[in-house]
Amino acid sequence: MKADRLLEEIKLKTDIVDIISEYVQLKKAGQNYKGLCPFHSEKTPSFMVSPSKQIFHCFGCGTGGDAVSFIIKYENISFSEAIKLLSKKAGIELSGFRLDKEASKKRETIIQVLKESLNFFRENLTESKSAQEYLNKRGIDKTTIESFHAGYAPMEWDVLFKYLKGMGYSDSVIKDAGLVTFDERGYRDVFRGRVIFPIFNLQNNVIAFGGRVMDDSQPKYLNSPETEVFKKGETLFALNLAKEEIRKKDYAIIVEGYLDTIICHQYGFKNTVAPLGTALTPGHLQKLKRLTQKVVLVFDGDDAGVSAARRSLSILYENDFRAKVLLLPEGEDPDSFLRKNDSHSFRTILHKAKSATDFLFSVSKGDRIDTVREALGIIASIKDLIIADELLCELADRSRINESALRGELKKIKTKVPMHRDVEGLRIGRTAMNREEYLLLSTIINFPEKADDVLSRLNIEDLRDETIKSLFKKIRALANKLNIRSLLDKTDNAERALITELSLKPSFDLEHVDRNIEDCFKKLIQRSLYERIRLAEESGDLNLLNSLLLEKKRLIKVVPA
Ligand code: CTP
Ligand code: MN
Repeated sequence: MKADRLLEEIKLKTDIVDIISEYVQLKKAGQNYKGLCPFHSEKTPSFMVSPSKQIFHCFGCGTGGDAVSFIIKYENISFSEAIKLLSKKAGIELSGFRLDKEASKKRETIIQVLKESLNFFRENLTESKSAQEYLNKRGIDKTTIESFHAGYAPMEWDVLFKYLKGMGYSDSVIKDAGLVTFDERGYRDVFRGRVIFPIFNLQNNVIAFGGRVMDDSQPKYLNSPETEVFKKGETLFALNLAKEEIRKKDYAIIVEGYLDTIICHQYGFKNTVAPLGTALTPGHLQKLKRLTQKVVLVFDGDDAGVSAARRSLSILYENDFRAKVLLLPEGEDPDSFLRKNDSHSFRTILHKAKSATDFLFSVSKGDRIDTVREALGIIASIKDLIIADELLCELADRSRINESALRGELKKIKTKVPMHRDVEGLRIGRTAMNREEYLLLSTIINFPEKADDVLSRLNIEDLRDETIKSLFKKIRALANKLNIRSLLDKTDNAERALITELSLKPSFDLEHVDRNIEDCFKKLIQRSLYERIRLAEESGDLNLLNSLLLEKKRLIKVVPA
């Protein structure tokens, strides 16, 4: 059976309310069902399921989609696995169904070739005096080398490549695993003359490597490129080893580097993880969330550390984590601190980690009000009302500004820009600037029969909101096959969330569709006129400016601004 047909079959035979009811307690609310969102923590339900449209949307965190995307997200499984699960629930026979078989086979081969490479690196470590000496010099003991599976990549052109070829792996698999690069001189190992720290996923498969030089040469660290099995923004170093301890302690220590993580584990802080030389992302936190929602950031006290901590704090709070910050004395990282002192001193300062507001005040160079605003900005982005409230009280205490004044300010910040969160965690303000785009999209989603009219008058390239623009292109491509469900099959997470949001909350008066369309187009015309006026002002073209201003006068008579 082809994937498309299977998907159709599933959609025919399943009801989203039944599916989601297995996971979330749903209550009837008008035409729809409501419940507590399983994707973020909340006390009042903002998670809606529509039986007529067969979609769900959470107005708290912005997640939305159909039954398939619900299962993918909830169970944290791939599309094809979700399809399998749903077919099973719907009693559909799966024989002959070969969806994604090839892709998953390739992933398996990549995982295999990475495993062989790890064996190769580990074998080489036992043969390299200099690498062993280096690890020894860095204070990493034998047990830690074993538990982290550290290795060594010899300083040669293509030994790993030849080794893997000898085992029968193809050039393309070795390349797709991120182990070699190819240029006019042929294949060359990515990791040469480096100590190797393998990176594992939660299933304990090695999915990538980090390699450190043993002298001062550059780059100090090299990481595997992103591959089919390795996404930097979703991978935390040592999470496989730290998992149990994080759950047990109910918090994770987040540090910046490989060595920091390794040494923290060696000194008994086994709930330590690190991103891989990148800033913390919502993808990282998604992985962590199943274990804990509390984090202590441990960073170097220099400027770079402070700004990294600031950024991480925002991301953490936006994703409903509670966080504390420990800034080490300038120039120290957890690795150097632990080795200079001991686990006892580290534990002592760990207990003194600062709360988010204390941290912001302690590093603030500007005036107190700027700091209060920065903190309010963070609070405004927190979805979980309880966490937000905690932080607000803390801020009131710390700033000695009374709480109701802070609440007033917070309200102002919140209403300024309606936050829209895509799944990558980027917040996109759908501001007054592109409200028309939003409403036109809403029109088509709620009244697909209006699509032709809108599309014939709309210049898609002029749209400002990238998500909306891309959706309009997909709508155009679907032409007369357009309906919400066909559209949902073709969208990414951010697009899907926007569609479900608009289907459940159109944001315009459904009784007056045509008037809404006309209003939107008038405003779009006006908007482009304002844009041309701005350009004319900039270029100093007075003639043009005057004629545009005249045009504006005429237009304003028709459309009050
Ligand atoms: N990093 C990286 N690529 C680089 C430099 C750094 O991926 N070229 C990442 C590594 O994960 C590294 C972390 O950023 O561990 C922090 O880098 P840095 O502070 O420069 O090094 P340390 O971790 O202190 O490394 P070491 O102690 O080994 O010198
Ligand atoms: Mn270091």
